[in-house]
Amino acid sequence: MTLVLGIESSCDETAAALVDGDRRILAQAIASQEAEHAPYGGVVPEIAARAHAERLVPLIDKVLADAGKTLSDCDAIAATAGPGLIGGVMVGLVTGKALAMAEGKPLLAINHLEGHALSPRLADATLEFPYALLLVSGGHCQILRVDGVGRYKRLATTIDDALGEAFDKTAKILGLGYPGGPQVEKLALQGDPEAVALPRPLVGSGEPHFSFAGLKSAVLRAHESGEHSDADIAASFQQAAVDCLIDRLKIALGKMGKLNALVVAGGVAANSVIRAALEQLAASRRLAFTAPPQKLCTDNAAMIAWAGVERLAVGIAPDPLDFSARPRWPLDPQAEPARGAGVKA
Ligand code: KG4
Ligand code: ZN
Repeated sequence: MTLVLGIESSCDETAAALVDGDRRILAQAIASQEAEHAPYGGVVPEIAARAHAERLVPLIDKVLADAGKTLSDCDAIAATAGPGLIGGVMVGLVTGKALAMAEGKPLLAINHLEGHALSPRLADATLEFPYALLLVSGGHCQILRVDGVGRYKRLATTIDDALGEAFDKTAKILGLGYPGGPQVEKLALQGDPEAVALPRPLVGSGEPHFSFAGLKSAVLRAHESGEHSDADIAASFQQAAVDCLIDRLKIALGKMGKLNALVVAGGVAANSVIRAALEQLAASRRLAFTAPPQKLCTDNAAMIAWAGVERLAVGIAPDPLDFSARPRWPLDPQAEPARGAGVKA
């Protein structure tokens, strides 16, 4: 039975996990840095890198001990090699390289986005390729067709902010804590989603890309006007986000051909209003709908280990020990950049 150690350190979660070829997560551990970054309202790269360096090795020891395994039981070491905050990525990748070298095990340099893209198959053994994936996190907002391991076609990305970033910025404007997504969702429960007229950027355009910067500015103006309750602003923002997602997905689904399922992954997939809207869209298209459990949606190392298991299963060669950490690493290098886009992966 294949056994892979996964390491994740691309943003503000330090994580290690052991996953086998039977989709069993033998052990996993995550150390969140929320408390360190909370005073700044966002992730501070230098603080993140230092925290990863302090915590990663003890976490790896812990998952091995929890599972009653040693490194020599592992078939490969899978470490996130990008995209992400480069200092943190380097901590995880160099640690993975050192363990691989010391134990004579193959190194698998995993694209963090591939971890998110394949995580639904860790949770759901029946999920077959191809499927449509909405990947919505603090750093990414993409629609992909997942055709197989290593075979991703990106149909859409954001030309400015990721959706999680927009949730976090809205939370900051409303004086809520970080990370903002869960707090905006909670406050929105008490508000009226129709109360504040907010824009739906790019809705109606023929390409399924996203834009959230204008929505965030409108939230700021609504807040400064003093005419609306915070709960109404939160609910109206969330509704605008849902409307954007559904409109953009309809365009993308129209370009994707036959699919087996609609899948959502990434931290924002934890949002229950968004999940419900996606479920409804999938039902209207007679598509199965899958969202991994929340623990697998937000950043974790089980998805990195699982991507390693999937790569081994299809015979993809391990990576050389001089593989460089990549701050940007698109899953689909052939994808056309979105018009007006910055340099986000
Ligand atoms: O995937 P993730 O853990 O890290 C990144 O790779 O970015 O995603 C974190 C993002 C944050 O922006 C957070 O505010 C957002 O996911 N998030 C949510 C919710 N829970 C987390 N956004 C909306 N509603 C939620 N319930
Ligand atoms: Zn992520």
